[in-house]
Amino acid sequence: LRVYVPYETTALSLGAEQVATLIRREAERRGVDIEIIRNGSRGLFWLEPLVEVETDEGRYGFGPVELDDVASLFDAGFERGAVEHPLALGLTEQIPYLKNQQRVTFARIGITDPVSLDDYRSLDGFKGLDKAVSLSAQALVDCVKESGLRGRGGAAFPTGIKWQTVLDAQAPQKYIVCNADEGDSGTFADRMVMESDPYMLIEGMIISGLAVGATQGYIYLREEYPLAHELLNKAIERAYAAGYLGDNIAGSGRRFELEVRLGAGAYICGEETSLLESLEGKRGMVRAKPPLPAINGLFGQPTVVNNVLTFAAIPSILGEGAEFYANYGYERSKGTLPFQLAGNLKQGGLVELAFGQRLRDLIYEFGGGTRSGRPVRAVQVGGPLGAYLSPEQFDVLLDYESFSKIGAVLGHGGVVVFDETVNMAEQARFSMEFCVEESCGKCTPCRIGSVRGVEVIDKIIAGDNRAANIALLEDLCDTMIQGSLCAMGGMTPFPVKSALQYFPEDFNS
Ligand code: NAI
Ligand code: SF4
Repeated sequence: LRVYVPYETTALSLGAEQVATLIRREAERRGVDIEIIRNGSRGLFWLEPLVEVETDEGRYGFGPVELDDVASLFDAGFERGAVEHPLALGLTEQIPYLKNQQRVTFARIGITDPVSLDDYRSLDGFKGLDKAVSLSAQALVDCVKESGLRGRGGAAFPTGIKWQTVLDAQAPQKYIVCNADEGDSGTFADRMVMESDPYMLIEGMIISGLAVGATQGYIYLREEYPLAHELLNKAIERAYAAGYLGDNIAGSGRRFELEVRLGAGAYICGEETSLLESLEGKRGMVRAKPPLPAINGLFGQPTVVNNVLTFAAIPSILGEGAEFYANYGYERSKGTLPFQLAGNLKQGGLVELAFGQRLRDLIYEFGGGTRSGRPVRAVQVGGPLGAYLSPEQFDVLLDYESFSKIGAVLGHGGVVVFDETVNMAEQARFSMEFCVEESCGKCTPCRIGSVRGVEVIDKIIAGDNRAANIALLEDLCDTMIQGSLCAMGGMTPFPVKSALQYFPEDFNS
């Protein structure tokens, strides 16, 4: 009898380790023969720790399980699956939150032991790589182009075009760099991939290496993800032992080496050029572009820098075909995006959807509205540099172009919800303050502008010469947008401007 208890950061922070130990003890005490499997998380965070039992009909879920619930679960005979219990959720796959998603990249997430190669292979793992080793580099790049995949880190640049640039560059050494410095507020999709399906990322990076002719890959991982670090290293070690990494990948005679490097917690090291500086052992300062990293990247060599989610989409694109992937989505936003629901919501978690659905449905159908029960007042999509949206905008479609039309960004898919108690002038101040803290300091509009921005917002909040200071703030925002070297200073004004535009009353109190 198999019982699944997640080994993943969210579940562990909610007591999954203690729950697993108690289930084991209780089973021994009662003489129930069970095998506990530590799977990843399905991403239904409000139900964590989500304990599942395997039956002939499928896996039944129970959650959120606390220590006090364990005895009553055994009393109810939860190992049979379909039993009456206040925490009984029925078949996990039938939970509407999960059932109503279009899980493509996250299809395998949370089902199995994340570092088991057998589990990975049994669920189509390495199907993409098996196909990739028989294709030419150009055919691989063409496949990614045809899929319509765009960079999932936030900028949405066409991945196939980036790879073509690296493939076409002539150099003795090329690199594949994975940006795993997931720093956006409310985001956790990269972490979920690394903790719950690390071989998918490894497979995507190997395919990228084959596509552009790179033999060395690095995963630049934020230090704040210790479990992802542990599991990635374990997975890489096993992938080497099984011949998926090293001199003869998947028996192809081709080489690809991979290692994890830790960042030290600077938000700006998620910007690709400062990430490269950091990876080279220097302070994480932004480089001017051009030259692009695709031409002149790590150690001056042509480099693919993609986000975790971009690489993670590659195995299914190769395995199932470009058309399969491109059939999901809407207009120029092809495929799916794993949205991450956070903030004041009843049902926070991971929701992978094809582009083109409504923000409103994400917040209410999946998120279940606010946890506080108060009306939603604002939503920030796309991390700390994303605009705040007001309820009149909730019918916007979730695709890159529709968001761009309303001056917003989908970014990395982070969705943070606020109820009516939020003060948007304080949120605007927070955006500027965040920029003060995280600016690399290279250019004046960002380094100095953000400090002045906090001061001006403080004056507005204090009622000091309000109209003139609001005009000054708007002017400052325009200067930052136009004069900053990178997105940090260039996008910080978006949450500030949107707060001013849609919630002006909060600046008048
Ligand atoms: P960008 O628009 O400058 O570049 C996008 C990517 O395309 C880069 O990798 C660039 O090198 C590449 N590129 C552009 N033209 C190319 C060409 N002709 N050939 C090959 N490659 C080319 O955007 P940037 O500054 O890299 O990213 C900004 C975005 O990052 C923002 O939109 C924001 O949403 C996102 N972001 C994400 C965070 C996260 O935690 N995931 C954190 C902060 C920001
Ligand atoms: Fe550095 Fe800010 Fe300039 Fe970006 S905009 S280069 S973070 S100072």
